Amino acid sequence: MAVERLGVRFARIDPVTGKAFYLETFGCQMNAHDSEKVVGTLLAKGYNQVETPEAADLVLYNTCSIRDKAEQKVFNRLQNFKRAAGKNKVFGVLGCVAQQEGEKIFDRAPHVSLVAGSASYTRLPEMLVQLEAGNRRVTGLSLDTDETFDTPFTRRDNPHRAYITIIEGCDKSCAYCVVPFTRGPERSRTSESVMAEARRLAESGYSEIQLLGQNVNSYRDPSPAGWDFATLLARTAEVPGIRRVRYTTSHPRDFTKAIVDAMDANPVICNHVHLPVQSGSSRMLAAMQRLYTRDQYIERIAWIKNARRNMALTTDIIVGFPGETEADFEETLQLLDEVQYDSLFSFKYSPRPNTAALGMDDKIPDEEKTRRLMILNEKQRAIQIRRNTELIGGVEEVLVEGRHEALGQWIGRTSQNRTLNFTHPDAGGASLLGQYIDVRVTRSGPNSLAGESAANVV
Ligand code: SAH
Ligand code: SF4
Ligand code: F3S
Repeated sequence: MAVERLGVRFARIDPVTGKAFYLETFGCQMNAHDSEKVVGTLLAKGYNQVETPEAADLVLYNTCSIRDKAEQKVFNRLQNFKRAAGKNKVFGVLGCVAQQEGEKIFDRAPHVSLVAGSASYTRLPEMLVQLEAGNRRVTGLSLDTDETFDTPFTRRDNPHRAYITIIEGCDKSCAYCVVPFTRGPERSRTSESVMAEARRLAESGYSEIQLLGQNVNSYRDPSPAGWDFATLLARTAEVPGIRRVRYTTSHPRDFTKAIVDAMDANPVICNHVHLPVQSGSSRMLAAMQRLYTRDQYIERIAWIKNARRNMALTTDIIVGFPGETEADFEETLQLLDEVQYDSLFSFKYSPRPNTAALGMDDKIPDEEKTRRLMILNEKQRAIQIRRNTELIGGVEEVLVEGRHEALGQWIGRTSQNRTLNFTHPDAGGASLLGQYIDVRVTRSGPNSLAGESAANVV
């Protein structure tokens, strides 16, 4: 650990109002949930959360490094505050960029005092003490930990839907991906600890839980019970008070038929599978080291499509991986036709430090990546318009998650993870937030549906 002293940094802190922190989060749900844990830990240590970096004594960024653009964001933020540093403001970089760049961050942004990757967050209280004592450079970068970031202090953002980490890190080595470097090796939580958290959440009024991990399918209970992911999924769905269980994200290689069977057996498990494919070409999948072929992927899709319940399917796709020919890309387009995804996330390949793909030949020019991305997204948009139109006239149960005051609409989410905005003429001013309501779908667009509370439609 690097430690350099530079006077007491929290000198102006008012002992009555306490110390103020600001935290901005980038990246995936795992980062979002880590931030909820970081916030809980800081609040438990007597800090107050404030809404602007200007109002804070401690400014934290929980960062993402998945693509170059994501990484640049934190350095842009830090650049903006260069002059504020030293004037009683302490800056900290957490998360995946912290782990990846380590102490190099101090060179790029000398006003940063804390650099800590997610695998070191269990040491966060100790790191805070060092910062408060005036240590100018505090780092938490060890990856050789088999601990998970389990804390009693999580402060959740959403009052109805709660994330639960079941596995941290990743043991795969996809040729383009930084995650195994930024989040370390896989560590599963005990089933007992996961179940206890699910029960606690239900008791405190949460009705939806989302099981989180970079690869939830490779979950393996480290306790003697030895549950696999399908068992854990089935058991969490049996917790009294839990009405919806979601999970993300799945790696196709480890996705089993038992998961589909568990979903079929219990409607509490939402009928949505996010199964990132990355490419429709087996040649590209091999180059990406994804550990499955197109045919094996299609086999899993068939399990999902043959389920008794009507499952929504979504995916992630990378265009312009080194060596991707027009024919490879064409295979990805054909896969879209074949699978008919309900939604997808598409990305231009971005070269990342430490990864195997960094040294690969046959780089695809950026204009070509952009062209492929546009073609892909256009095709998917047409598919979504058609699929969403098919839902008009049907009734969907939504969990009410928000309100568009200006439009007089409630914002709901279906089990299939679609956004369904709806009117509810008889609400009489009462809040519907957190309730489950049947909504008749009356209109559709490429990305969402609109409707009316079914109780009001004859
Ligand atoms: N664990 C998940 C992926 C997490 S990252 C999985 O295995 O599917 C989320 C998505 O970001 C990936 O599915 C991939 O599509 C995209 N991604 C990851 N690295 C990338 C890179 N270097 N360039 C472009 N997209 C990338
Ligand atoms: Fe990255 Fe692959 Fe691990 Fe997903 S499975 S996090 S894409 S290395
Ligand atoms: Fe980004 Fe790290 Fe998540 S790189 S996508 S925040 S695991």
